[in-house]
Amino acid sequence: MTVNVLNDSTALAEAVAEKIAAFVKANPGALMCFAAGDTPQKVYLLLADKHKSGEIDLNTMWFVGLDEWVGLGNDDTGSCRQVMYSGFYDLAAIDHSRILAFDGLDENLDRQCQMIDKWITDKGGIALTALGIGMNAHVGFNEPGAVADSLAHVVALDDTTLNVGKKYFPSGNVPGKGITVGMAQLLAANELLLMASGECKAEIVKKALQGKITGAVPASLLRVAANLTVWLDSAAAAALVK
Ligand code: GLP
Repeated sequence: MTVNVLNDSTALAEAVAEKIAAFVKANPGALMCFAAGDTPQKVYLLLADKHKSGEIDLNTMWFVGLDEWVGLGNDDTGSCRQVMYSGFYDLAAIDHSRILAFDGLDENLDRQCQMIDKWITDKGGIALTALGIGMNAHVGFNEPGAVADSLAHVVALDDTTLNVGKKYFPSGNVPGKGITVGMAQLLAANELLLMASGECKAEIVKKALQGKITGAVPASLLRVAANLTVWLDSAAAAALVK
């Protein structure tokens, strides 16, 4: 594991965007899995700019959505689909045929999981994943109690996620279940990027990076991957023991 600490969230976004851009140039045709959530939004703006200026060609890549709130679809503000299409895929005019994301509105969620598992397998596995960390250390919706060998699955969201989730849904109605790419699929990636920004993440970052490796702290499971790079701003890194 390599930990990179940048001065602030802007420097963090620039560094991660550089890293992903270099990967895109070196690995055309590879599958990438990006988190929704607030943390990586600046990264996606920068990547869309690099694509529009011709520095990189995102239409050489494949994409898989990391997770979704069950019961929400394209038209629902705060859904992961809506966040990723409006904040990245459509901003960069990425061909929709290159993207597969969970449809949280499907009544048959097993079918959604099978579709995502097949997409990942057919593309040779996830080559690069860019992840955020929840306040309970979830990655995607791999919630506390996560296991390292999981594939795509549906999960009941824990109380922390339901509470924190209110920031995405002004109505206060946070869906009770999530659907997510599994830990096994993330751990198998050639490049795992874990991002955190802000002082509110400092304690959970410390737990994930310097505490016990346990499914109770899902992000800690990422430490078994040799190719994990962690990207923090100084506020999120503040509690780490040097
Ligand atoms: C959300 C999502 C994750 C995201 C994480 C952190 O609920 N399920 O994919 O990475 O929690 O979100 P944020 O970056 O907004 O703190």
